[in-house]
Amino acid sequence: MNIIVLEDFDALSEQAAQMVEEQITKNSHAVLGLSTGSTPLGLYEYLIKGFKAGKTTYQNVTAFNLDEYLGLEKDHPNSYHTFMNERLINHIDIKQENTYIPNGVSASMEQECKHYEELLDTLGPIDLQILGIGTNGHIGFNEPGTSPLSTTHIVNLDETTRESNARFFKSNEEIPKHAITMGISSILKSRQIVVLAAGEKKAHVVKKLLSKEVHESFPASWLWHHDNVTLLVDHEAYQLVGN
Ligand code: F6R
Repeated sequence: MNIIVLEDFDALSEQAAQMVEEQITKNSHAVLGLSTGSTPLGLYEYLIKGFKAGKTTYQNVTAFNLDEYLGLEKDHPNSYHTFMNERLINHIDIKQENTYIPNGVSASMEQECKHYEELLDTLGPIDLQILGIGTNGHIGFNEPGTSPLSTTHIVNLDETTRESNARFFKSNEEIPKHAITMGISSILKSRQIVVLAAGEKKAHVVKKLLSKEVHESFPASWLWHHDNVTLLVDHEAYQLVGN
């Protein structure tokens, strides 16, 4: 794992954007793996800025998202479809039909999992996967205990995950209890993985990741089984390393 410690969230976001832009400059047909959550927001702002400045075109780029809540329609304000449209997709020239996000309201979720994995196999592999990391060590919505062999599947969200995401919902009852996510093995098929960790509340999880102990109880630790992972971490999230 290549570890790059950056001054702050802004520097981390800029560095991540540079890596994405370099990937697309190298290969205009690149397949990106994208994530939601707070951590990639700065990255998406830099990508939009770069696009508007004429640096990058996404006309031939394909993008896959990691996950979606179960039961939220695509146009629900809290769906990851809405998040991606508002935060990135609507502001760059990527073709809507080349963006893939699991469907959380499919009549057959089992079929949807199979279909998403087939899409990844057909259009992938993902050239560059962007990941955040949960305070419980999850990647995508692969919660502690998920098998490293998992492909796209349905999960019960941990209470800690629901609490972390409560800020987006009006009441606790509204926070979904289930989600569909790419599995750990689907994520590890990516050619390159860039993990973003920022802020004090990720300090424990970064310390744990960098202990290099690989265990099912800490899903991000499976990243040690991949040979092209870069961790971009800011000072706040790195502060416990070595202590
Ligand atoms: C989001 C996702 C999650 C988040 C993680 C960190 O699509 O799959 O694994 O990356 O929960 O979220 P933030 O960035 O909000 O701390």
